Amino acid sequence: MAKIGIFDSGVGGLSVLREILKVLPGEDYVYFADNANCPYGEKTKEFITERAREISGMLIGKGADIIVVACNTATAAAISTLREEYSVKFIGMEPAIKPAIGMTRSGVVGVLATAGTLKAEKYRHTRELANGKVTVVEHVGQGFVEMVESGIISGPDAEDTVRASLKPLLDEGADTIVLGCTHYPFLMDTIRKIAGPDVNIIDPAPAIAKHLLEVMDDEGIKTGIHRRGNIELMASGDDRVLRRLAGKISSLLPSLQSSHR
Ligand code: DGL
Repeated sequence: MAKIGIFDSGVGGLSVLREILKVLPGEDYVYFADNANCPYGEKTKEFITERAREISGMLIGKGADIIVVACNTATAAAISTLREEYSVKFIGMEPAIKPAIGMTRSGVVGVLATAGTLKAEKYRHTRELANGKVTVVEHVGQGFVEMVESGIISGPDAEDTVRASLKPLLDEGADTIVLGCTHYPFLMDTIRKIAGPDVNIIDPAPAIAKHLLEVMDDEGIKTGIHRRGNIELMASGDDRVLRRLAGKISSLLPSLQSSHR
């Protein structure tokens, strides 16, 4: 079986791990949450690149055969550097604007993401390709990451916070919303409640999981069948919420270990 390294600024990458476990349940995983430095959204490209470089080196040192950058902000800032510097394959997050183009009826696609993702060249490029076909409107999910990191994913505070960033997109006519930050799918129920039944909400994680499977196949990275894999959880800060949310996806979790770094 393979060892898959995954990292994010915090717990957000668990929303990606959740989907990966559905297609690759027999692998070993090491998940690193850089929550001592969360949020990445307002940090510089240089800072995020340095963290991504250090975390990737650590994951490779722990035996990772392939690394999932389960963070849109870190993908936008650092994935090209990581690919230049390390020989393992890196799978990054993509803003799922393409599938949104096929789903919108109003012709307006809304993107919720961090400030770092929205200003990155990678995102601007994807957006340019979409413009002309549809209108793309954006908003930072203000306060979303902090809320999820503190373990709040529903209730009146979550609803107020989500409404403040989602409403401007709905007001502009968006009927399809792309979640461009891996923390946001944890707020899916709240987002759906506020957006209403006629709005499509797209979480790119299932497509990323499928892509990982294809790349592992192409690369000949052996996958484990007929076994239950291991998941090692690591955090640069307090790991309580990480363990709690990992426990929530634990029907899929083979066995769970946790360590500090
Ligand atoms: N979960 C991350 C993302 O996908 C980063 C959020 C943050 O740290 O600001 O963008």
